[in-house]
Amino acid sequence: MSTIDAAEAADAGSAAVPPERLVPDTRGLTVWAEIDLTALEANVRTLRALAPASEFMAVVKADAYGHGLLPVARAALRGGATWLGAAQFAEAFALRDAGITTRLLTWLSVPGSDFAGAVGRDIDLSASAPWVLDEIAAAAAALGRTARVHLKVDTGLGRGGAYGADWGTLVAHARRLEAEGTVRVVGIWTHFAHADSPEHPTVLAQQERFLEAVAEGEQAGIRPEVRHLANSAATLVHPSAHADLVRPGIAMYGLTPVPQVDDDFGLRPVMTLRARLALVKQLPAGQGISYGHAYVPDVDTVVGLVPAGYADGIPRNATNVGPLLVDGRRTTIAGRVCMDQLVVDLGPGSTARAGDVVTLFGGAPGEPTAQDWADATDTISYEIVTRLGARVPRLLIGDEGAPATHADGSDVTTAGATTAGAATADAATAGAAVEAGLA
Ligand SMILES: Cc1ncc(COP(=O)(O)O)c(C=O)c1O
Repeated sequence: MSTIDAAEAADAGSAAVPPERLVPDTRGLTVWAEIDLTALEANVRTLRALAPASEFMAVVKADAYGHGLLPVARAALRGGATWLGAAQFAEAFALRDAGITTRLLTWLSVPGSDFAGAVGRDIDLSASAPWVLDEIAAAAAALGRTARVHLKVDTGLGRGGAYGADWGTLVAHARRLEAEGTVRVVGIWTHFAHADSPEHPTVLAQQERFLEAVAEGEQAGIRPEVRHLANSAATLVHPSAHADLVRPGIAMYGLTPVPQVDDDFGLRPVMTLRARLALVKQLPAGQGISYGHAYVPDVDTVVGLVPAGYADGIPRNATNVGPLLVDGRRTTIAGRVCMDQLVVDLGPGSTARAGDVVTLFGGAPGEPTAQDWADATDTISYEIVTRLGARVPRLLIGDEGAPATHADGSDVTTAGATTAGAATADAATAGAAVEAGLA
């Protein structure tokens, strides 16, 4: 296992290393994301405690918001999640095919989606329109099974779900299929438009409309196991919306959906994005930096090359504003973000060296956060973590004794797992202690 403890590097005589102090061996890596599964588990516990009477659906869509689908799903289950949620069928199939048997809902389909694959894998499905129910029912009939369905009502988001009078039509259609035995409605659900603005009047209005829709469904004979509407923001700040099941996503990853509220809710960021300086050099005053010379130092200075760019998910509009922690101080990107690289002005007299670690965002004191990146680039923290490129290795921390694996479960020491993984394999074989700058 290519894992060492930073303190151990300084103190070779130390006793056994507690798992939470293990850090991945990142020698040879250009850019990587550390995924702290212990923090994720703790976040799930924290959120569960806020809605103790509700089931907990861990939302792991989009590769678990960029953190790695399978390890995150497993950590969430260890933390007490009782359901998993994924937007796309392929994500849900990957969970099942990896042996995860927990109740699982997937919700985005189009005509021709692999409903048989979903029903065959015992996955709950969402329906916002009669045609979805028909395709689900046909798949279930062919398999000789009864499909579990959650009917989605649009209570005012104006996105998915049956709106207005369409709700009654959807309910009546579902009841006909229930009578045939191909479909069983186990859930009624909706999604908020403004849960991230705790005082917004639509929050209450949507809850009221939801209760009406549930009552209409129940009057028609539907007996849902779970009625659900709470995303992270509602889980955190709208207890009246917890209902039978909460569906947090972003909060599980330790990021707040309500950055304007001065409270971290005891959540810990799960992802830390780091890179290593690839080059450090002197540049004279007046020498423009990177494409377009969008940054021009007005004094002789030292610059560092950070081997991470928009192909890795660094927003190009972080040019001149993306925050970094390097050489012990906070600074911002100097000049354009390129496809694979960006530059930082380390300042005159900097003693930084190639190989020094740069933190783009994380959660430790002094580190910029994903929220800082979101603020700097006019987006939300969701996008900052989710957009991370596939070529950035995710190094898992705190995963039951397997702290240095890629998010797909392969060991970082497996040559060829990724280019970076192969580089790490060489370093691991060398077996030497690593520099202690990561703890
Ligand atoms: C239907 C649904 N439920 C729950 C979530 C989780 O939302 P959040 O990450 O804000 O908690 C999402 C994500 O957008 C979603 O689409």
